[in-house]
Amino acid sequence: MKRIGLLTSGGDCQALNATMRGVVKGLSHNLTELEVYGFMDGYKGLIYGDYRMLTSRDFSGILTKGGTILGTSRQPFKMMRVPDEKGLDKVEAMKQNYYKLRLDCLVILGGNGTQKTANLLREEGLNIIHLPKTIDNDIYGTDMTFGFQSAVDIATEAIDCIHTTAASHNRVFLVEIMGHKVGWLTLHAGIAGGADIILIPEIPYDINKVIDAINRRTAEGKGFTILAVAEGAISKEDAALSKKDFKEKMRDYKYPSVSYELAEQIEKKTGIEIRITVPGHMQRGGSPCPYDRVLSTRLGAEAANLILKEQYGYMVGIINGKVKKVPLGEVAGKLKVVSPDDQLVQHAKLIGISFGD
Ligand code: F6P
Repeated sequence: MKRIGLLTSGGDCQALNATMRGVVKGLSHNLTELEVYGFMDGYKGLIYGDYRMLTSRDFSGILTKGGTILGTSRQPFKMMRVPDEKGLDKVEAMKQNYYKLRLDCLVILGGNGTQKTANLLREEGLNIIHLPKTIDNDIYGTDMTFGFQSAVDIATEAIDCIHTTAASHNRVFLVEIMGHKVGWLTLHAGIAGGADIILIPEIPYDINKVIDAINRRTAEGKGFTILAVAEGAISKEDAALSKKDFKEKMRDYKYPSVSYELAEQIEKKTGIEIRITVPGHMQRGGSPCPYDRVLSTRLGAEAANLILKEQYGYMVGIINGKVKKVPLGEVAGKLKVVSPDDQLVQHAKLIGISFGD
């Protein structure tokens, strides 16, 4: 007999349901008795005791369903130790709900912030398994997060669509891609979509180098240029600012996002007509791609395996093609960023893609 809790926290992504299905199928196939409690809207449900008892039937038919059947919300890690407006100690409340339901383990699906709280709960003595979710692919200790590949597919599709119209109009197009503070999504979708210029936070850009790359294409007789711009892309000047000065600059920032600032500079310096496309939350939506369905099933199955063996306190990740358990304490709070020396960056540069550096 096992009693497990499940929750999904932070921004959603395509393969959350597929992953939970893997966990529950893996357990129900191997246990005669299983109780599953789903906490609603992420940690909020765990704090305020908002949960539902689920059966294995709830996890049938959800392999291809995007979003999360449990709902989700953002509960910042830095606020976890701060009592709520009624003075409730959130960490204590989460522990009480865990003990009240006599859970054997709490399975937590989420990104970096979620992982930090998962580790905090582990330090507080709860049995935790974390599963790495995010379209940003920025979780340390796993080569891949579920949701990432599905988002790459959508962002690539967006660039593909832009390609045909860009070619007809002789314009410069900027496609702004999600990814928070890292460039994995932009790097992959940019290469897959054949972008001419890729701008990511880890490689601050020089606007003059960006202009040079556009002018080079014009001189070669290519009428259009496509830039894949990470939402966190940053210029060399801004990257050189202190945290305080950068914050100050952003306070008076007149653009909706970095692409609009870039577009204004490019238009001014080249005179070429510019268009901006921001696929936004589309990148987290829809069905998980087959790669993510397989990854999620594997990660979920391995989480079930760990629970059956009563091995807790781990994130289940994939390293060099093998699903592995990684001690939560070793990875929580670390970010996996793109190294400018990454082979993928080097190969992209080799075929002439500019990073504006
Ligand atoms: O972490 C996933 C992500 O989609 C980031 O790429 C993006 O910066 C952020 O979430 C958007 O968050 P929200 O859904 O809260 O607007």
